[in-house]
Amino acid sequence: MITPQAGPVQPTTENTPQILMCPPNHYGIEYEINPWMCRQRPCDHTAAVTQWRALRQLLEAAGAKIFCMPPVLGMPDLIFTANAALIYQDLAVIARFRYPQRQVEVPQDEHWLATHGFRTCHLPPGMFFEGAGDALFCGDTLFAGYRIRSDIRSHLNLGTLLGCRVIPLELVQPHFYHLDTCFCPLEPGLAIYYPPAFDEYGQRALAESIAELIPVDSDEAQNFACNAVVLGRTVITNSGCPNLHDQLRRHGFEPRETPLGEFVKAGGSAKCLTLRLDGEDAAAWRRAGGRGKKGHVVVSGGSSAASPHPTVLTFRYRKRNHVGQDSNLVYNEESLTPFVP
Ligand code: ARG
Repeated sequence: MITPQAGPVQPTTENTPQILMCPPNHYGIEYEINPWMCRQRPCDHTAAVTQWRALRQLLEAAGAKIFCMPPVLGMPDLIFTANAALIYQDLAVIARFRYPQRQVEVPQDEHWLATHGFRTCHLPPGMFFEGAGDALFCGDTLFAGYRIRSDIRSHLNLGTLLGCRVIPLELVQPHFYHLDTCFCPLEPGLAIYYPPAFDEYGQRALAESIAELIPVDSDEAQNFACNAVVLGRTVITNSGCPNLHDQLRRHGFEPRETPLGEFVKAGGSAKCLTLRLDGEDAAAWRRAGGRGKKGHVVVSGGSSAASPHPTVLTFRYRKRNHVGQDSNLVYNEESLTPFVP
């Protein structure tokens, strides 16, 4: 058994990365809510504990302070703390999970964050939002995945709430159902991504708003190459991503790998098992220590080639399943089909 250790998250002036994890005491494949999960392919519990501990050690060796949320029987996916909330300074925007199997985690997540120094808030009812799994800052922009788990309407609300620019990205492949399975900011202006996980509009929005994108190939994407934890120049992934690691070295990063196959069985890997409490390295607000620009939402694909950023809400733009006009996104829920196990 792994004993959870708790303690206050100290506001820090130094640069110690602070990460929330949850030990896999009660982890298992008990239901199927994404195409990776299959109850006929159970996890090896001993191996899962070994893999989780090795990840934790690697994170600590890279300089992170790890906080542990207590595991809860009957909540096998609580270990994927990336989904608990989106952290923005001292505010935690708590998840609204799509599937009932994970909705039970919310009180645990909220309690932990509220008792460790965060202000917590919820998006309005009726829209799904799966925390940092679907919302990642790169520079001063929040990139937000929608369709399979989170709803695009939650991103509109996030832009208003946080006062930052949001670029919604439609996820089109069921295996890459959270944004953090196919996109990973490394620093402002640089990110890893798996292009086929996005529609052409999303690919264009990414290309026009991030100076350099490192693509991963299909085999390594299946090994969760994009689901990386970035700690300064260290980038930690699942084993089996040699091409990405070569590219990272060429960009001056130090890639590290550790086997996480037991968590891939649930559709998760390194990044999903962590929630950065002090802000991701690539988030401009962490560096600046201040709030970003006034909030507005950008419809992915609505960019002009001449502009470094997609055009912001000054146009009417029609896309298959949503229409962007000024600050209103009209969104046809029925056209969005979640993965049905
Ligand atoms: N079994 C979990 C689910 O389907 C895996 C979550 C992975 N988390 C992530 N941030 N991608 O919700």
